[in-house]
Amino acid sequence: MPRVAAKEAIQASNVLPFPSKLTAKIECSDNLYFMRDLPDASMHLIVTSPPYNVGKSYEVRPSQEIYLEEQAASIAEAVRLLHAQGSICWQVGNFVDDGEIYPLDILLYDLFKVHGLKLRNRLVWTFGHGLHCQKRFSGRHETILWFTKGDEYTFNLDSVRVPSKYPNKKHFKGPNKGKISSNPLGKNPSDVWDRKTDVWDVPNVKNNHVEKTDHPCQFPVGLIERLVLALTNRGDNVLDPYLGAGSTAIAALKNDRNAYGCDIVPAYIKIAKSRIAELNAGTLRVRPIDKPVYQPL
Ligand SMILES: C[S@@+](CC[C@H](N)C(=O)[O-])C[C@H]1O[C@@H](n2cnc3c(N)ncnc32)[C@H](O)[C@@H]1O
Repeated sequence: MPRVAAKEAIQASNVLPFPSKLTAKIECSDNLYFMRDLPDASMHLIVTSPPYNVGKSYEVRPSQEIYLEEQAASIAEAVRLLHAQGSICWQVGNFVDDGEIYPLDILLYDLFKVHGLKLRNRLVWTFGHGLHCQKRFSGRHETILWFTKGDEYTFNLDSVRVPSKYPNKKHFKGPNKGKISSNPLGKNPSDVWDRKTDVWDVPNVKNNHVEKTDHPCQFPVGLIERLVLALTNRGDNVLDPYLGAGSTAIAALKNDRNAYGCDIVPAYIKIAKSRIAELNAGTLRVRPIDKPVYQPL
């Protein structure tokens, strides 16, 4: 088969048809190659969790300098793909070296700012489980840097409001005295996505989680759903350049957005594609976002 035709055949096999005409372009590829094939300004949301360079099974641990250079290259390509009203969300934890921690959001912040992006939130996501540290407090939060390209950006707050704490609270003075003061649609969920105070409970994906696959550190789908709902509209394009087990693609497709993503490890792409097929068949198990976190008695 001629090379061009072969490439088209591979690409065609990677595009899964959806009844609602959604696109799922999922490939096993280094993200620089994958992103270079996509058109400028074509993505409304780019949301990802890159390797933290902490020696996970999929990481060849480079020096911090090389790690940051690699991140800079992927971020530059992602910025090229970002739609004028679009958002980039980079979800990260800490790089740990010889007991010292380096918060990756601090190290990566400038790599976005050099492109003129504007930080809208530094979201804090807390979870209940993880390593028990002996020489520092155990880490139970990670962050998401949410940047936009411009000042006009998609933000559908109403689609992610949560119930108000005091829904019957009234204005006590002024022209609206006696009227309900809170928004009937609920309140802004805030920049701390906390498992104890937030109805949108998103525990991290550990062994007993219904979404658990063989990937060592996958996103809970619910975490990304909040971003997809708030930062995109139906029919928009969502890209994850470090797709892993495909949680971002699931969050996008489940909410009628197109999904684009790649991962360098074939086994993870296989998992992602089979999860998408299960979603399509209506058999994928996803943790409901309003399910309470299990509290032992
Ligand atoms: C933190 S994990 C992402 C997990 C993902 N959020 C999920 O829900 O499964 C980082 C992923 O990046 C992939 N990866 C590392 N370097 C890559 C590269 N240059 N291009 C594409 N994927 C890469 C790894 O194989 C790994 O699956």
